[in-house]
Amino acid sequence: MLHVSRLAIRVESKKAGEVIEFVERLGVRDKRRRVVSSGAYVEVPVVECENLKELLREANFDFELVKQEKPVYARPRTLEDALRSRIPENLMKKLPKTYKVLGDIILVKIPEELEDYAGDIGKSLLEVNPHCKSVWWDRGKRGMLRKPDIVLIAGEGGETTHREGGCIYKFDVSKVMFSPGNQAERIRMGRIVKKGEIVVDMFAGIGYFTIPMAKKAKVYAIEINPDSYHYLLENIRLNEVESVIPVLGDSMYVTPERIADRVVMGHVSCHEFLPVAIRALREGGWIHYHESVPEQIIERPVRRVISAARAEGKEVRIENVRKVKNYSPGVVHVVVDAYVF
Ligand SMILES: C[S@@+](CC[C@H](N)C(=O)[O-])C[C@H]1O[C@@H](n2cnc3c(N)ncnc32)[C@H](O)[C@@H]1O
Repeated sequence: MLHVSRLAIRVESKKAGEVIEFVERLGVRDKRRRVVSSGAYVEVPVVECENLKELLREANFDFELVKQEKPVYARPRTLEDALRSRIPENLMKKLPKTYKVLGDIILVKIPEELEDYAGDIGKSLLEVNPHCKSVWWDRGKRGMLRKPDIVLIAGEGGETTHREGGCIYKFDVSKVMFSPGNQAERIRMGRIVKKGEIVVDMFAGIGYFTIPMAKKAKVYAIEINPDSYHYLLENIRLNEVESVIPVLGDSMYVTPERIADRVVMGHVSCHEFLPVAIRALREGGWIHYHESVPEQIIERPVRRVISAARAEGKEVRIENVRKVKNYSPGVVHVVVDAYVF
């Protein structure tokens, strides 16, 4: 553990500027603590330095070296700064490079070597992001419902309101997923949908795609998980999008037929639902089909869309295959835009 110094130079306030300049030139100012004033004096925090007293005397300062009773710590700017005195130096290079901020909640992935320090990482992240109320250790998603596997490591509360692309998303990070990596896709969906269209969102969740699309279109939003459905209803209300028809159920069985201009299949493992999606379309229409696919077989999603359309006696034009994000090492999340007719 690093020794945390409380040493400071106490000088008259009018001399503060000169002393700060002096200790900065010497490289002994302790920037982790703030300069504090007490009456006509200030305390300038410094790190331990052998001949500091002599140097100050030589410079003719009228000073006193004190141990601060109430040091005020400067807010660290990075996770690295905040953790330096809390974890062993040799583990610093293992620190997570990124973390996600959703509303006032932080999600962070923690490498195995740092699992014992999860609480310290959480506390440090709150120091770096004082507007946030809690930090959750993100350990992935589980099963077809993509339920988050996460653990609270600092602060409290899981419900948050996240704003993005002019939309409001309220949800509880401990109950439902929200993928920041899909942001560009959510915004794109809101842009490409045309005014007056009828859309079926087969895996609506809390309204990831439904909300941006509902600003222009009528959207059937189907969701199987009651927790997600609860927030879907809340988000319809918060965003004042009356054109959404929420449906609680399994899209394999409740998807309406021959109704849609566009079907969104926003689940990374949903190829078995392609026949249902195709039957939801009117004469001709768009399918936005998502899949997580190993890079070696990157053509698989297109192949699946084409064969599902043919099996339903339809033609298909593949307009676009877009990478949404890296899913896991060697695996990408893609979306296929297909016109089926
Ligand atoms: C992966 S999430 C959607 C992620 C989203 N596209 C984003 O931008 O973050 C998929 C949603 O589909 C729901 N779901 C899974 N199987 C379903 C089914 N058979 N019918 C309806 N919803 C389903 C899950 O509960 C979950 O809310």
